[in-house]
Parts: sequence; structure tokens; C-alpha cells
Amino acid sequence: MNNAVTGFSKLSKEEKIQWIANAYFSNPSEAVATLKQYWNTDVKLQQLHDEFIENTITNFYLPMGIAPNFMINGKYYSVPMVIEESSVVAAAAKSAKFWSTRGGFKATVLNTEKIGQVHFIFKGATAKLQSFFDKVKNDLIASTDSITKNMQKRGGGILAMELRDKTTEMEHYYQLHVTFDTKDSMGANFINSCLEQLAKTLKETALHYEAFSETEKDISVVMSILSNYVPNCIVRAEVSCSVEELAEKKIENPQLFAEKFVQAVRIAEIEPYRAVTHNKGIMNGIDAVVLATGNDFRAVEAGIHAHAARDGQYRSLSHAKIENGIFTFWMEIPLALGTVGGLTSLHPLVKLALEVLGKPSAQELMQIVAVTGLAQNFAALRSLTTTGIQEGHMKMHLNNILNQYQATADERKAIAKHFENHTVSHASVVELIENLRK
Ligand code: MEV
Repeated sequence: MNNAVTGFSKLSKEEKIQWIANAYFSNPSEAVATLKQYWNTDVKLQQLHDEFIENTITNFYLPMGIAPNFMINGKYYSVPMVIEESSVVAAAAKSAKFWSTRGGFKATVLNTEKIGQVHFIFKGATAKLQSFFDKVKNDLIASTDSITKNMQKRGGGILAMELRDKTTEMEHYYQLHVTFDTKDSMGANFINSCLEQLAKTLKETALHYEAFSETEKDISVVMSILSNYVPNCIVRAEVSCSVEELAEKKIENPQLFAEKFVQAVRIAEIEPYRAVTHNKGIMNGIDAVVLATGNDFRAVEAGIHAHAARDGQYRSLSHAKIENGIFTFWMEIPLALGTVGGLTSLHPLVKLALEVLGKPSAQELMQIVAVTGLAQNFAALRSLTTTGIQEGHMKMHLNNILNQYQATADERKAIAKHFENHTVSHASVVELIENLRK
């Protein structure tokens, strides 16, 4: 069957659904019903969601949960998390509770600079371009005044701009490398608008620069775009307590636990196969809060993984040590987040999530997100180095299977009892349900 289509975006939502249903399903009316089941009955709310993207056909639900008891810099937070993986919120909550009685999390924003670049081609002498740049730099920046005015009122704007010579890596290639402070907004639109204006002014000014030859006057702008690599927009999250204080029900020998924990982190520092999974666990926490607060998790992911590989090898984002009987576990990561603009004022659940967090500034949100990542990493390493990860995972998984089979209250009771001393596996749960139902 040829399922190519022209003019799909021009079809109405009903027509789009009908087309999809007819093209891909043997029972089109069932497919239509499934898609429509997720439409919101509040027409205005549905329209809001429809308009976030193109060609919307329905809403895709993800659960939103809360991990309470996060003590960060002496203040309690209940952290909203949006994620599909069953054990993540429970693990964050456990970790938060554990550290709340051991001094809580400390978090510090180390810097907040964002980067954008105009990539261009100049066919001439570098020294000539440099003296042109020195002469017109202020004019270039001034040309963005109407864009930066409001941001400047909030204390942000363009912080610096330099000309970078990249000709050893690519012939005739230069950059305007621009540093921004975007305050409480993530700032992608602001940065890109500034860059496009800088590019335009750069091109126009070069055209009238008398010291340039005709070829030199013809600067070719390849592209103007922010960078999601933000090595100077860094937040640090940390927990620390004496080794003895680590003791609890599942940590009978705290010294042994601390040593194994440090070894586990060290392995992730030196071994990329482990580092990727280790950092994935950190991202479980980070992405979930980033999503709940309407931020761009792809940008955050790209920036953080670049940071993890900054010395040429992909390594653990977190670090741990024992020094003079004190256990310390910490992480410094780049995070470009916003608490104003974008989805933050549009999506009702994002607004609600930010309210639950006490309407944080972007810097406060950086701290909360980094702490959630560290908490998640602590929970994973605690399980991995003690009971193993499957115990907790399978308990949550069990619940999913029971829901899938629409288990009754009595069945749930019997099954919970059985698995108190049996290992959970998908097959064993299904077998038990089927036996109970015989
Ligand atoms: C699962 O989503 C995350 C873990 O694999 C992380 C880790 O291994 O550290 C448990």
C-alpha cells in the first residue's frame, strides 16, 4: 500500500485522524476511538494542546508524580516529576527522605552564562577581519538594542562577544562567539533573535567597509544559532555526612557501604560502558523535573552528555569520596533552564508544577533539578551495591502487570503475599494470576 500523502497539514484534525485510521488500521473506527479517548472534553484546553505542535491528532499521557521531602539548602521541596519508568519517583523520594535526616542536599549555582554563535565565511586576511571587528563591535551590539532592551531591564543581555578564528579547522571559517545572560528565561528565542540581528549587521557593515576588497566585503553567514553546550552555566549538588551516619536498615556496615559506593562511582568515572548507564540513572531524575517544569529536555540532555565527554572520554557526571571519616557525593553539571517564557506560562500543569516548587527562579530550579539527578544516582547506586536493582524494580513492575491484568483486590493480596519470598518475574506473575483465576 502507498501511504504517501500531500497536503496533510491542511486537513482538519478529524480528517487527519480518519486518514491515519484508514491508511494503517484494519479496524479504522477502533483506531479513531483510541485516539479520541485521549482528547480533553474541555475544548479550550484541548485547543491549547493542539496548537503546541503541527498535525496534532491526540494527547500522549505521561504520569506526573511527586517526590516529597527534598531538603535543599535547608528548605523543603516537593518535586514534581513526569516520567514513565515505574521505579524512578519512588527512588527519588526514598533518597530525599534518607538525606533529609543527614543534613539535606547543598546546591550552588556556579555561573549562568549561555552561548550563541554566528558562523560565517570570510575570504581574506584574518588581521584585516580582526581590525574590522574591533572597529564595529559596538555597532554590532548596538544593533540588537531593541531586542535586548527588556532583557537588560531584568539584568541580562549580551555579556561579551569575540571573533574566533577557526580557519585551521575549516578554510575561511570564523565565528562571532557571543555570551549571554538570559536571567529566568531559557532564552533560546532571545539568543537566536540577537544572533540573527548580529549576523545581518555584520554582513551589511562589511559591505560598506572601505578597507575590505570586493571579495572581503562579501561575508557569507552560514548560520546563527545558540549552543546547547553551556560549560559556563553550571550547578553543583552535594550530599555529605559522616560514614557512621550512613547506617540504616539496609546499610548494616556503613564503612563497607561507603567504600563500595565510592568504587562504583570510580568505575563510572573510568569505564564508558558503565558511565553511560550511571549517567542515564542521573538523567532519570533530571529529565523528569525538566519535563514537569516545561523545559527542553533534549537541550539539557545534549549539553550534559557533552560535558560528560569534555576531556575526550565519556565519564561519570557524579563523584564520591571518603575523607577523614566523611562521605561526600557530588556532581557539577551544565543546566540551561527557564522559569518564565516558553511552555511555563502556557501549559497548566507546568504552571502548577512551578507553583508546587514555590515559583522558583531559574537558578533555584537549576539547584532542584541537579539535586534530583544526584538523589536518583544515590538511590540507584545504593541498590546496585547492596540488594541489586531488580528487587525495587520488579516490585513496581509487579504493580504494572497487575494493572495490565486488571487484578482484583483479593488477587492483589494473594499475589503480594506470594512474592514476599519469591522472585518477581513477568512470567511468574502471569502464571500466578492465571492459576488464581482457574
Ligand atoms: C535505570 O533506569 C537506571 C539504572 O540502570 C542506573 C544505574 O545503573 O546507575 C538503575
